Amino acid sequence: MTSTASNKTDIWSADSYGTKVAPFVAAMTTKIVEWLDPQPEDEILDIGCGEGVLTAKMAPHVGRMVGIDASPNMIDSFNKTFPDVDARVVDCRHLDRDASLCTASFDKVFSNAALHWILRDENTRANTIRGCYDALKPGGLLVSESGALGNVAEVHAAIIGALVHQGIPVDVARDASPWWFPSIEAMRTLVEGQGFRWVRGEVELRQTELTSGEGGGIEGWVRLFGANFLELLPTQDRKDAAVNEVVQVLEGVGRRQHDGAFTVNYVRLRFVAQKDFESK
Ligand SMILES: C[S@@+](CC[C@H](N)C(=O)[O-])C[C@H]1O[C@@H](n2cnc3c(N)ncnc32)[C@H](O)[C@@H]1O
Repeated sequence: MTSTASNKTDIWSADSYGTKVAPFVAAMTTKIVEWLDPQPEDEILDIGCGEGVLTAKMAPHVGRMVGIDASPNMIDSFNKTFPDVDARVVDCRHLDRDASLCTASFDKVFSNAALHWILRDENTRANTIRGCYDALKPGGLLVSESGALGNVAEVHAAIIGALVHQGIPVDVARDASPWWFPSIEAMRTLVEGQGFRWVRGEVELRQTELTSGEGGGIEGWVRLFGANFLELLPTQDRKDAAVNEVVQVLEGVGRRQHDGAFTVNYVRLRFVAQKDFESK
């Protein structure tokens, strides 16, 4: 693992994320791409773009597409796979400080499955949303889908429980969560607080079937997306024991009866917000 722009461990791997664990994240995006409504003349900034599968799919249909992500691993893979699309390492917690992007020149700022990571730290939430605002032209749109209150709650709870069984105090285990899963009201308050007009929003329970191959499934999911939690445990044996407990606990929760596939309760929060036409 390398370090991110912010010097935190880079937990992301394009192979693990896009191939083994969660190819569905970039694929199950029909509704939010419909809300984005990409137009041939649009200039779009994709924040938390990852390894770029969705970004690059849209790029040929718009005027300009820029993808940004804090993970050097993801951007390295993006640049190798899609060399014609502009992709850069940017820690979006401090997007408002990026003079090259906060230029009031984008028609739309887009984000899929990333804001619940980026907005985890409450001290920088406003900076991210302010950066989106400053990147947009007057009248420009912020369009996002991310995890809502209750997202993957059974997995989240099982991970915290497994860490407690490994001797980690419960408040420490809770604080290690890399996610912020807000209610729609909390997201609206945040976005309006930075000057946006709330256009529309919705929450959807999406029972999501996980992958089943080597390196995927619920075990692969916990090892990749739960990596920040597992960092609390000092040895690989203890990490493996915690992962094994989570998998065993969830066996009794997520397995579908009719075909045996494994599902997790994703709760998605989608919204569109608009920058004031009168602003600069
Ligand atoms: C689940 S992936 C989503 C990737 C892509 N948008 C998609 O739809 O497949 C979440 C992404 O958010 C990125 N991310 C997390 N924290 C970030 C931050 N502070 N700034 C920018 N990107 C961040 C991660 O590096 C990761 O690539």
